[in-house]
Amino acid sequence: MRARSNEHEPAPEFDRARLPRHVAIVMDGNGRWARARHLPRTVGHQRGRRAVRATIRAAMRRGVPLLTLFAFSSENWKRPIEEVDALMKLFINALEKELDELDENGVRLSFIGERSRLDEQVRGLMEAAESRTAGNDRLHLQIAVSYGGQWDILQAARRLAERQAETPVDLDDPETLRASFVAGLSTGDQQPPVDLFIRTGGEHRLSNFLLWQMAYAELYFTDVLWPLFDEAEFDRALAWFGNRDRRFGQVAEGGKA
Ligand code: IPE
Ligand code: IPE
Ligand code: MG
Repeated sequence: MRARSNEHEPAPEFDRARLPRHVAIVMDGNGRWARARHLPRTVGHQRGRRAVRATIRAAMRRGVPLLTLFAFSSENWKRPIEEVDALMKLFINALEKELDELDENGVRLSFIGERSRLDEQVRGLMEAAESRTAGNDRLHLQIAVSYGGQWDILQAARRLAERQAETPVDLDDPETLRASFVAGLSTGDQQPPVDLFIRTGGEHRLSNFLLWQMAYAELYFTDVLWPLFDEAEFDRALAWFGNRDRRFGQVAEGGKA
């Protein structure tokens, strides 16, 4: 995952002003990639790691400041135990192997999701990676593990209720209500909302990803299966994003319809 390995490659130019501040990706299609090759689903997950590396490299090269990857959802716990175990092992392995290089490249790692459902070894590795890379600022790589958008909203609501019982604020004031709620989300109140959502694997759904944070995200779907996603595919999504007319409920620039 060398950041500089492809610097001589000609690449499409992007208007930096039209670069998303936050890209969030549902990395889907590992199982189908494997099935098409008569391989076990786990091989598909293993292959997906390559795509993760390529995507991180592309995000760094393009200067995207925040990348959130959906690695394991709240609902993925319902998969067969063998697959869940294999995914967790793969996650541990990837974290152990990639951490040095990510750190050297200035990547700050953090994780969102329901940690209490993860075993101690995983939690320990996550915390160690977070504290080790906390001072890095080239790319913030946020991995969603045991994550669900509804879980995130519910736990933010609970935190708000708990804080309100201790030190009440004026929840009748819409700004205060919003700020107090957002501070309790797993993404906190410092991150930009998701500008660009990417889903590979051909399905057109959110699958309980960052629901609150994607309120105004541009949604990009591609049939490419995750193990085949690469820097060129990432660039394609960025180029598509650059051509969106984002109105946020208002009228187009210059007041035209
Ligand atoms: C995405 O690939 C990886 C995870 C959800 C962990 P899938 O395992 O969902 O692959 P498909 O959708 O069955 O092809
Ligand atoms: C979403 O993919 C979760 C991850 C990529 C981690 P799924 O494959 O689990 O989603 P569904 O089941 O197709 O909605
Ligand atoms: Mg899937």
